[in-house]
Amino acid sequence: MPVPKQRQLTAPGKLLLFGEHAAVYGYPALGVTIPRNLSLLAEPAGPSSPLELVFPTLPVPPETAEEFVKYLEAVATSEGIQLSPARLTVTSEIPVGGGFGSSAALCTVLARRLAGDAADLHTVWMLAHRLEHFFHGTPSGIDTGLTTLTGAHAFRFSGIGPPGRGTETLPTAVSVQLPESILVTGSIPRTRSTRELVAAVAGRRASDPEGTGKILRKLGSICEEVIQNDGLSVGEFAAAASAAQRLLAELGVSTATLETVIRAGIDAGALGGKLSGAGGGGAFYFVCPDEKVAQRVATAVSRHIPDSGTVLTVSTRS
Ligand code: PMV
Repeated sequence: MPVPKQRQLTAPGKLLLFGEHAAVYGYPALGVTIPRNLSLLAEPAGPSSPLELVFPTLPVPPETAEEFVKYLEAVATSEGIQLSPARLTVTSEIPVGGGFGSSAALCTVLARRLAGDAADLHTVWMLAHRLEHFFHGTPSGIDTGLTTLTGAHAFRFSGIGPPGRGTETLPTAVSVQLPESILVTGSIPRTRSTRELVAAVAGRRASDPEGTGKILRKLGSICEEVIQNDGLSVGEFAAAASAAQRLLAELGVSTATLETVIRAGIDAGALGGKLSGAGGGGAFYFVCPDEKVAQRVATAVSRHIPDSGTVLTVSTRS
């Protein structure tokens, strides 16, 4: 009988470019993967060994890992998949906690292990989406879509209205060609969680349906214009980012520190920039025309980033 071999599976992190918050109300979203990977090393274990998931370099408490293994086993059972005993070791270059999709990347590599080599991407994405429910009670499917499909993709939900969150529904994904540019991205600590920020926007919408609805609609149209413009220039891409940032600030999800960071990046030569993800701190990105400007922007922005934060550059064509 052949001896099962060690296997390494990897998936990238992601950056949401447009559509945050508006996506909760059914508008489209657009994101891109970043060249920072999470890896899963699978070492076969004896038939009586339990399935083990370990995170030697990541801040994951062992109890959470154990709970997640139970969740993973339940998903596998419900799919009729037999999990072979193994020790699964997870390592990652993806900055944790900044909205760069480390949990989605973890779900993607595990979904690929569950689904097997012959599985199509949609099957892997669906399984990753199911696993992502462990980390985010009602994921939209965007993060796992990006980490599974890789590259730049737009996501559309069926019609305007809350998408099928917490269900098995996935949005539809369309591959998008972004203009050649360098993105400087990073993150600062968050003052509020995604859940709190989404709830704050819902509260604002309940007390001011017209004003909030208008902002969400405009965020939706900016994203739609970027998706539909095949010949989008770097300048248009950057202007769309800055316009979305103004709307997100109006929505109340930016912070004084984010605004300072964004100002610093623009002053250093970025053509545009915005927060990425839920806001309240967290991730941001700038659109830069070339490496030289990107380096200047990264240096200027780094001065405002605490040691626990991150700054990295990403080519839209990498
Ligand atoms: O918290 P993040 O960075 O994963 O982004 C959340 C994006 C929101 O639109 C605010 C919420 C969502 O589920 O779409």
